[in-house]
Amino acid sequence: MHAAETDIDAAPAHGERDATPLSVYVHLPWCVKKCPYCDFNSHRAPAKLPETAYVDALLADWQLASQDEIRPIETVFFGGGTPSLFSPNSIARILDALDQRLGLVGHCEITLEANPGTTERPHFDALRSAGVNRLSLGIQSLDDDCLNALGRIHGRREALGAIADAQAAGFAELNCDLMFGLPGQDLAGAMTDLEALLACDPGHISYYQLTLEPGTPFHLRPPRRADDDQIADMFEAASERLNSAGYSQYEVSAWARTARSRHNENYWRFGDYLGIGAGAHGKRTFADGTIVREVRQRWPTGYMHSAGSAASIVEHRQLSRADARFECLLNGLRRRQGIDRTEYVERTGDCWKTLLACLQPSVEASLVDTSPCHVRASERGWYFLDSILAELA
Ligand SMILES: C[S@@+](CC[C@H](N)C(=O)[O-])C[C@H]1O[C@@H](n2cnc3c(N)ncnc32)[C@H](O)[C@@H]1O
Ligand code: SF4
Repeated sequence: MHAAETDIDAAPAHGERDATPLSVYVHLPWCVKKCPYCDFNSHRAPAKLPETAYVDALLADWQLASQDEIRPIETVFFGGGTPSLFSPNSIARILDALDQRLGLVGHCEITLEANPGTTERPHFDALRSAGVNRLSLGIQSLDDDCLNALGRIHGRREALGAIADAQAAGFAELNCDLMFGLPGQDLAGAMTDLEALLACDPGHISYYQLTLEPGTPFHLRPPRRADDDQIADMFEAASERLNSAGYSQYEVSAWARTARSRHNENYWRFGDYLGIGAGAHGKRTFADGTIVREVRQRWPTGYMHSAGSAASIVEHRQLSRADARFECLLNGLRRRQGIDRTEYVERTGDCWKTLLACLQPSVEASLVDTSPCHVRASERGWYFLDSILAELA
C-alpha cells in the first residue's frame, strides 16, 4: 500500500485532529398557522408571542450548550417555524450573546428563514442591521392555486414582493425554497413555476419534492398529485433548466448560482453544531474524539420552563463508530462532491478501509463510486440513497 494512504487510514490520535468547524442552529418554533404538509417542530403562534420569555430561555440554553466550548462560530442559522415573526431586536440580542461567549468569525454566515406574508422592507433592513447576511425565503410556489392548496398564508404577489424587498434591502445571499410535485401540478406547471422564480434571479435555490410526512394532514388525506414517473420527469427537466441558468447542484436539493449554504455544507460534511431552542438538535466533537448528540425538549412551553437546565435535554447520546459512519454517509452522499477521505477519518474517527468495506455491495451495484480520496453516490446512486444506507443499517 502507498505510504501516504497508510498515514491517513488510521484515525488520528488525540490532539492530532484539526478542530471540526462549529455552527450554531437557533430554533424559533412559531408560525402564523400550521401548513398541512409540514412535520417540522412548528406550532401555531398564540395571540401574543412570548418573544421576550423565549429569547431569555434561548440565552439560558446558550450558556448550557456552549459550556467548555472554545471554538469560534463559523455559521449561524435561525430556522423554524417562522423566525421572521421575531423582531430584529431579539435576533440582535441572540447574536450578541453568541458573539460574547465564543465569537463569530469575521466572515460568519448568518442565515434567517423568512416567510412571505410576515415581512416587509423595513423588517429586512433591520434584520440586516442586526447582523443577518443571508435570507432563506419559503416561496414554495409562485402559482396561487398551488399556494392555496398548500395552505400557505401568502399568494404569488406577496412571494414576489418578499423577493424584491429582500434584494432591495441588499441581501446578496438569498435562498428561495421552491417545491415541486404539488397538488394539481403537472410538468408544464412545475416548469412555469421554476421559470417565474428564475426571472427573480436569486443566488441560491432549494428545490424540494413535496413529501407526505407521517402525522401530517396531507399524509392522512393525500391530495391528488402527479405520479412518481411524472415527478421524476419534473426533477430532470428542472435540473437541466437550473444548469442552463447557471446554477450548480451541489447537493440533492441545493443549487447555487452565487454562494453555497455554508451552514448546510457543515451539516453535510459532518461538522459540529450547537442547537438551541425547542426541539433543536446539536452534535459536538470533544477533544478526546468522542462525538455527542443532544436534543432539546420539543414543546415550546416545556422548553421555556426548563431551558438552561439538564431537564431541557431529552436526548444525550454518544455516537459509536458505526453511528458516526452511518450519519456521515447519510449526509455526505447527498453532496455532489461526496465524502473526502481526510475529512472522514478526522471527523468520524473511523478508518477509510472500514468505510470502503461497508460500501462494497453498493460499489458492486454501481450505486457508489470510489477514488483514492473520495466516495460519492453515482448518477444512478443518487436516486437510490435509501438503498445504499439500508445496506449499512
Ligand atoms: C423549516 S421549513 C420552513 C421555512 C418557512 N417556515 C416556510 O415555510 O416558508 C424549510 C423548508 O422545508 C420545505 N418543506 C417543508 N415541509 C416539506 C415537505 N413536506 N416536503 C418538501 N419540502 C418541505 C419547504 O420548502 C420549507 O420552506
Ligand atoms: S410556515 Fe414553514 S415551518 Fe411553519 S408550518 Fe408552514 S412549512 Fe412549516
